[in-house]
Amino acid sequence: MNPNIIFADLPKVPSLAKAHGIAMGIAFVVLFPLGAFLIRFVRSKHAIWIHAGCQLVGWVLMIAGLATGIKMGKILDRLHNNAHTILGTVVVVALLLQPAFGYLHHLRYVKTQKKNVWTHLHVWYGRVLIVLGIINGGLGLRLARDTPAYSMAGTIVYAVFAGVFGGFFFGLVVYVVMRGRKSNEAGLRSGKVEKLGGGGKNGEGP
Ligand code: HEM
Ligand code: HEM
Repeated sequence: MNPNIIFADLPKVPSLAKAHGIAMGIAFVVLFPLGAFLIRFVRSKHAIWIHAGCQLVGWVLMIAGLATGIKMGKILDRLHNNAHTILGTVVVVALLLQPAFGYLHHLRYVKTQKKNVWTHLHVWYGRVLIVLGIINGGLGLRLARDTPAYSMAGTIVYAVFAGVFGGFFFGLVVYVVMRGRKSNEAGLRSGKVEKLGGGGKNGEGP
């Protein structure tokens, strides 16, 4: 028997696990991919703030998920001795900087009307971390398999949502990259590559 487990607090684990799984699931599987979709497809000059608002709600949920995750990890002695809590901590800590990168992109973009180093950092850093976060949810469910918190129904719901929204997010990234490549090729042919690379109808984004 593991003497580091806080046995007196074990009854708290099922509700903590539910809160943690739901907060992290909504943030990584639903809101972050939805926010990425919105910045690409909302045709309005407010698209950036719709994107930022959606992502910041996800960001706050993610921090709530981190707090419940750490609490559970301490009770179960599963803090940073397994893939889920290690990868999860790396992803969450890395994403703490993401709103600042988005804002720095915006400040520079307003001045120059061009994509810049913060744009590429914000976009690719975000894409990679969102995918790692979705995968990490699966690792969390595997970790929870041998505790009373585990629910088969929760696993199925997570798998379905992760499959649908994860697939949708992957498709979005491929679409945006291909579209950018095509417009750059067209720009090269017409000699207007900088303009075409610099932003869509809604100012920032496509
Ligand atoms: C990318 C971020 C993360 C996602 C998407 C995520 C998601 C999940 C999910 C879906 C579960 C299963 C919950 C259940 O069975 O109801 C879980 C379990 C767990 N998570 Fe996370 N998590 C993340 C980050 C973290 C972090 C940063 C920590 C702690 C530092 C953590 C600690 C735990 C622990 C200890 C469990 C196992 C609970 C048990 O054994 O019953 N997670 N996570
Ligand atoms: C945790 C918070 C955030 C996350 C996870 C996030 C994530 C992302 C992702 C993944 C993309 C790329 C979408 C794609 O796949 O094509 C993106 C684009 C963008 N984000 Fe964020 N974002 C966050 C916060 C913000 C904030 C606070 C701002 C500005 C104030 C911002 C401004 C932008 C802009 C302008 C773009 C489009 C850049 C371009 O022209 O290519 N983001 N964001």
